[in-house]
Amino acid sequence: MEALKGIRILDMTHVQAGPTCSQLLAWMGADVIKLEPPVGDATRGQLRDVPNADSLYFTMLNCNKRSITVNMKSPDGKAVFVELLKKCDIVMENFGPGVLDRFGFAWEKVHEINPRIVMGSIKGFGSSGPYANFKAYENVAQAMGGAMSTTGVPDGPPFVAGAQIGDTGTGLHLAIGLLAALRQRDRTGEGQYVEVAMMDGIMNLCRVKWRDHQRLIRESLAEYSVATHQGMGAVPRAGNDSGGGQLGNAIRCNPGGTNDFIYVVVQEAVWDALARRIGPELGLPDLATDPKFATIDNRRRYQNDMWEIIGEFALKHGKRELMGILNEINVPCGPIMSTEDLANDEHVRLREMYVELDHPQRGKWWNVGMPIKLSDSPARIERSPLLGEHTDEILREVLGYADEQIVKLRNAGAFSAPPKKAA
Ligand SMILES: CC(C)(COP(=O)(O)OP(=O)(O)OC[C@H]1O[C@@H](n2cnc3c(N)ncnc32)[C@H](O)[C@@H]1OP(=O)(O)O)[C@@H](O)C(=O)NCCC(=O)NCCS
Repeated sequence: MEALKGIRILDMTHVQAGPTCSQLLAWMGADVIKLEPPVGDATRGQLRDVPNADSLYFTMLNCNKRSITVNMKSPDGKAVFVELLKKCDIVMENFGPGVLDRFGFAWEKVHEINPRIVMGSIKGFGSSGPYANFKAYENVAQAMGGAMSTTGVPDGPPFVAGAQIGDTGTGLHLAIGLLAALRQRDRTGEGQYVEVAMMDGIMNLCRVKWRDHQRLIRESLAEYSVATHQGMGAVPRAGNDSGGGQLGNAIRCNPGGTNDFIYVVVQEAVWDALARRIGPELGLPDLATDPKFATIDNRRRYQNDMWEIIGEFALKHGKRELMGILNEINVPCGPIMSTEDLANDEHVRLREMYVELDHPQRGKWWNVGMPIKLSDSPARIERSPLLGEHTDEILREVLGYADEQIVKLRNAGAFSAPPKKAA
């Protein structure tokens, strides 16, 4: 039995931040009704790789959902929306600031229509504060939440992370909030409003940088490979430093291609074994007892020399080979995996993290699988819906509308774009 069986979600989200949340909830068994404007979620047509087919941008974020188009700018469309609200446990959206108010469905109104419903909103900066009226995309959130200023090398520009921590990261935060609110609703009978701001989500994901921000008041950061000093105002960019209590770095391996690197964590407990394993091969048989690296404090102080030695060893081996060598002596490490590496990785296939699907417009394609594994409720991944594919089905099954009623609403423009005004 699916964990969220019986939970119905009215999903008005678009682009990435919201859809990634509702897709996860669908994979946990919720019935997710994606309510789209008549033109569809903009991502259906963005970065298209197959002519006239829904883009991968859309298909990869909207699996296991049903699609209904509703024109929220028509009175009949709004009436259908109100009826759907009454039949759902959760309504969620990530429109730009003010859009819901313009529709006439702010939280207070939604709560009045269905006091049991939980409402989830993602905004760039939340509904309060001086930034509340600003729109946001992934990299805007990474810029403003502290991720970019702490990513990259000190003398280079700030960098964005490849991982979508602003969009998908915020979607994850929202999922947690929605499930908590649902639990409370089940106890009290009252829904509540769950808001996650992308900037807040990024700050949460940068928590350890705030640890360092405050440590700088009292000390320099000895574990950083770049120089820091007491009283620095801002946490610096520190390349590939581990950012934790253990030293870590990305080391180039053989044959030296773009992704021929391995990330190595020189955990305090493994230095001896590591030094014994690599020293002799490099003509340094006494590396394990060399006082320069004997203590963690010294390894911090001379870490760039230590990385050079480890790097010399790594250049003699391929990254997969090194993963074997280092894991044998319990050194935490990870080869830098390209998307190509991952697409062909046995571990990834076995854990169903890259799954093949079929689609009526595009044929075979692949999606990243469900990262949360529930022992009694494994996710069954199904393709994303075509635009409005389930409009009639939802109107009949969820709202109990008769065919004549559907035709009447359709003729009144409830599900289609308003006719273009004459020039
Ligand atoms: C992502 C974002 C920048 C996109 O901006 P945008 O393309 O201008 O989209 P908006 O959400 O602001 O506006 C959507 C428009 O479509 C209209 N629309 C949406 N659904 C509709 C429907 N079912 N029927 C009719 N109109 C609809 C809205 O009314 C709005 O028009 P309006 O401005 O005339 O009121 C913005 O939505 C945003 O800041 N969202 C919150 C943060 C976020 O989630 N960002 C990450 C996205 S991955």
